[in-house]
Amino acid sequence: MGITFRKLHPYVGAEVSPIDLRAVHDGATLEQLRAGMDQYGVLVFRKQPFTDAEQLAFAQRFDGVLHAKPGAAAMGANRFNNDALADISNVDNNGKILPAEDRKRQYSLGNQLWHTDASFQNPAGRYSTLSARVIPPVNANTEFADMRQAYDELDEAMRQRIAALTVHHSIAYSRSLLGFEFSQGEQNILKGAIHPLVRVNPRTGRKAVYLASHAQRIMEMPVPEGRLLLYELTLRATQQHLIYSHQWRDGDFVIWDNLATMHRATIFDDAKYVRELRRVTTIDVPLGKAAAAA
Ligand code: OGA
Ligand code: MN
Repeated sequence: MGITFRKLHPYVGAEVSPIDLRAVHDGATLEQLRAGMDQYGVLVFRKQPFTDAEQLAFAQRFDGVLHAKPGAAAMGANRFNNDALADISNVDNNGKILPAEDRKRQYSLGNQLWHTDASFQNPAGRYSTLSARVIPPVNANTEFADMRQAYDELDEAMRQRIAALTVHHSIAYSRSLLGFEFSQGEQNILKGAIHPLVRVNPRTGRKAVYLASHAQRIMEMPVPEGRLLLYELTLRATQQHLIYSHQWRDGDFVIWDNLATMHRATIFDDAKYVRELRRVTTIDVPLGKAAAAA
């Protein structure tokens, strides 16, 4: 069965068909999909009726070890009792819409800040898979910005300025920007992680800026100077022409490369409509070396 990649945007995003990912086990097809990720950064698959177990298994086939240290885990177990399966929804354990002031809801709203998944951990997140289970009848898009193209558009002086810099990412920091408060015990768990500001795709050698609202400071600079530089880079990296906005349909399955893109949820009437997705993210450890890091 030959698969085709149809571009959804000049730089980032392609729709892949025909394929049922639940049935993809052969190395050649998985490798073709990884090559598609290298090129497009975001891949969209329609009508993929994944169960939770199938989604967890697919992500492992695709890239090895799963990320299981989400920020939310510091606040207690999720409703699936599985930290590798992120509950991207606005409902409680009984499937009812969360009240406005609910802490889980306030925490989840942070996904509307531009971010990369698990950049506040080491190893950070690599590929994220997001499976649509219940999609509201109004737009609740996810936006993806191309951090490779953003890098390519920097002038030479800026590329040199940022080449050797490292950044402390912390989810306690990004959530504090919204006024969300973590207890001392939660903060002790969420210390964050340090990553290079420029990251290189290990398979293609292509460079990308590695940004996120979690980016708290540049280690080699005074805090205000570093924050200004991060702010400037974020403005440049989230210009409209760099963004693919994914309009969800029932059964959609989207994979993105957190080293190539930054993403955010967009606002919708979440007091009125249920929106339920599940996310499984792999960690940024090269295939084959994963066992050593696990
Ligand atoms: C995520 C995320 C955005 C959305 O699942 O990591 O940021 O639109 N989701 O739900
Ligand atoms: Mn995310």
